[in-house]
Amino acid sequence: MAVRKITEYPEKVLAEICKPVEVFDEALENLCAEMFETMYDAEGVGLAAQQIGLSRRLFVMDCEGIKLVAANPEIIEQSGEQSSAEGCLSLGKVPAVVVRAAKATLRAQNEKGEWFEREADGYAARCFQHETDHCNGKLFIDHLPKMRREMIVKRFKKEKNWK
Ligand code: NI
Repeated sequence: MAVRKITEYPEKVLAEICKPVEVFDEALENLCAEMFETMYDAEGVGLAAQQIGLSRRLFVMDCEGIKLVAANPEIIEQSGEQSSAEGCLSLGKVPAVVVRAAKATLRAQNEKGEWFEREADGYAARCFQHETDHCNGKLFIDHLPKMRREMIVKRFKKEKNWK
C-alpha cells in the first residue's frame, strides 16, 4: 500500500470522460485501498481515480459517516438545492461556493462489482455529485461563471508557488 501522488489541475486526465471499470479483482481492491490511504493522507473526503492519474470511473469517499467505493457511478435522482463551499484535492482545496442538489441518490458498484443505491443529503450528497462529476471529466470550478473560475485557478497557482 502506498500514498499516491495527487494529479493536479490542469493535467489533461482530469478533463477526460473516464473508462468504465469492468474487472473486479484483487488489483481493484488494492487500488481502492491505496485511494483511501491517499485521500486520508490529504485529509480529503472523496477521491476519484483520475486524481491519481487513472482514467477510470471510480471513486472512494468517507464523508459524514458514508464510507464507500463507487465504480461506474451515476446520480439517478436528485432534488432541492444547496449552496455552500467546496474544494478539490486537485485544486489545493481552494474553496468556492457551488450550487448543487440538496439530496442525491448514487447508483454504483462496490469493489466486488455488486450494484447498490445510496441516498444522501447535505455534505455527503455534495460529495456524491462532486466525485461523479470527476468521472465525467468535470471539476467543481466548471460549475462556476468564468470570472470566478479564473479566480480560483489563480489562487491555486499562487498558493502552489508558496509551497
Ligand atoms: Ni475533486
